[in-house]
Amino acid sequence: LPQLISQPSEYGRNVDEVDEYADVDWENIGFGVVPTDYMYVMKCSKNENFERGQLNPYGNIEISPAAGVLNYGQGLYEGTKAHRTEDGRLLLFRPDQNAIRMRKGAERLCMPAPSINQFVDAVKQIARANKRWTPPAGKGSLYIRPLLMGSGPILGLAPSPEYTFLIFASPVGNYFKEGIAPLKLYVEEEYDRASPGGAGGIKSITNYAPVLKAIAKAKSRGFSDVLYLDSVNKKYLEEVSSCNIFVVKGNFISTPPTAGTILSGVTRKSVIEIARDHGYQVEERAIPVDELIEADEVFCTGTAVGVAPVGSITYKNQRMEFRIGDDQSTCSRLYSTLVGIQTGIIEDKKGWIIEL
Ligand code: COI
Repeated sequence: LPQLISQPSEYGRNVDEVDEYADVDWENIGFGVVPTDYMYVMKCSKNENFERGQLNPYGNIEISPAAGVLNYGQGLYEGTKAHRTEDGRLLLFRPDQNAIRMRKGAERLCMPAPSINQFVDAVKQIARANKRWTPPAGKGSLYIRPLLMGSGPILGLAPSPEYTFLIFASPVGNYFKEGIAPLKLYVEEEYDRASPGGAGGIKSITNYAPVLKAIAKAKSRGFSDVLYLDSVNKKYLEEVSSCNIFVVKGNFISTPPTAGTILSGVTRKSVIEIARDHGYQVEERAIPVDELIEADEVFCTGTAVGVAPVGSITYKNQRMEFRIGDDQSTCSRLYSTLVGIQTGIIEDKKGWIIEL
């Protein structure tokens, strides 16, 4: 990490001298912003390619009030994690998949995007530079948040003249306040998350503010999050605000296909592969909401959420309950394998892990 070794950090010490761990109460981390030491920044103009980025001390950024991202929502975000192994190594999980997804989203939102190599290299730099903020094994992970935004000024509705790719990181524990307790979901019928031809299939920032109201409504009624139905028929399962959904019946696992309105989760994709390796029959298909009544198990997947069991889903005042929690459940088996690979307990035979 040459930039860091030659440059003193904000705290006046070289990276070689910094403590192994930052001063964090590792037993009590949730999913919140903890300012770390460094962020990564790379800029380019419209019609150009990103070239060189750099690590800067973590802090506020300056942006034009007329920036495309502020006025017209020209922005994407990603999420990936670094885990610390028992013996202190840092492991990244499939950051190339986030790079590919960001490139797809950038194409949809008329933005230049970093190459896969640039993206992965930047993620490696940010994880190394903030290593002391990565929780000890078993206590959580370093959540890495890449952003791509139209940062240049624009008034007419058109692509921004300048773009910023930025990555920051924060140590995190469980996403939901429920911890590892099963989620209580509620089928949202008033608000839609996405519609065909829209941006639901990419990680556009514009997919997230509009669901806040549905989440707030659900939380005020004691639910963890909201399950959306397709906006055309109001019949088929789509996804949860923060994660994808899977339904288990015997040896069959089903999840909605990502045909433009559903986010193509990296955890979703990985869990499908792990489940097939375990001998499950996995289908990507339209799942009518009425089918939930017959499900043995339901679980959610996402980078932030991990693999989380769903204890109940309420639809039209009917509460459906599912098997949860025991070590032999499908959800537990898939969770253990995924986390095992991510944390280096299970050998990675798939080329998913990048060790730093
Ligand atoms: C993630 O799982 O990384 C996400 O981006 C979801 C977000 C709502 C935290």
